[in-house]
Amino acid sequence: MKGNLNMSNKVLLVGDGRVGSTFANDLLQNVDIDELVITDVAEKLPVGDSLDLEDVTNFYKPVNIHAGTYADAKDADIVVITAGMARKPGMTRLDLVDKNVQILKSIIEPIVESGFKGIFVVSANPVDILTTLTQKLSGFPKNRVIGTGTSLDTARFKIALAKKVGVTVRDVNAYVLGEHGDTSFENFDEATIDDKPLRSYPELTDEVLDDLQTEVRQKGGKIIANKGATFYGVAQMLTQICKAILENKEMVLPLSAPVKGLYGIDHDLFLGTPAVINSNGIADVIETKLSDDELKKMNYSADKMQEVVDGVSL
Ligand code: 2OP
Repeated sequence: MKGNLNMSNKVLLVGDGRVGSTFANDLLQNVDIDELVITDVAEKLPVGDSLDLEDVTNFYKPVNIHAGTYADAKDADIVVITAGMARKPGMTRLDLVDKNVQILKSIIEPIVESGFKGIFVVSANPVDILTTLTQKLSGFPKNRVIGTGTSLDTARFKIALAKKVGVTVRDVNAYVLGEHGDTSFENFDEATIDDKPLRSYPELTDEVLDDLQTEVRQKGGKIIANKGATFYGVAQMLTQICKAILENKEMVLPLSAPVKGLYGIDHDLFLGTPAVINSNGIADVIETKLSDDELKKMNYSADKMQEVVDGVSL
């Protein structure tokens, strides 16, 4: 179901920082859209970025790109939320929760008031918490709220495995699941390369896999320590999610999706699990096969996220 009635593809981007601006540039080059509205607390930023981004359309179709407000959500298909404080070196994503929940509250209310009937896509951190709260604050059906979840972690895991074994990422079928953060885990017991289990690759010893898990978990922090922020990877995830929605191209990605009733989880949470997305948002949440040990890790992650949500005053 398209959010707006005039059948044009419209996206409202909330937050024009490095993630938002990179996403806007990716979106224009990868997705068929008609209107991109950008809003940010720094009012001049979307004005300048819209003019700058318009020059990208020289090689693509004309797109109405302009600065705007939350009221522009009224007939938007998607609202992308990147707005929030970003991690600084040494911070965890959960360190951002108090500040970014306050920012989220100031965004969701006016967007719902605008009459928005589309799909929320969230990348601001801690993304599982903010996605869960976006659904609670908006009251939207759960299929119309999506977070980038562990899609970026999974990309990092697959790239690291492919490099280690000397194959392409397309040959790797693996997931990072749970929190996009310190309680995430790799599905080593089910992952395959060229349809063969990881254990069948002698170079993938337990020690190598432990090192690889650490490398993946620390990659975001390492990028931030060296260049101040991460944005290319997460912006591309936002773009792929918007492409699946706006072009109705069914895609399976590990996203912040509703997990209540899956994996033995009873918490009303969004957490990193494979999900099928299309023009309706989340078309299906996949309860992927996990070993007993991995099921424990998924439930531990859910319990920790619920503790954070319980500690938030809305
Ligand atoms: C990362 O890991 C932005 O949290 C995101 O790079």
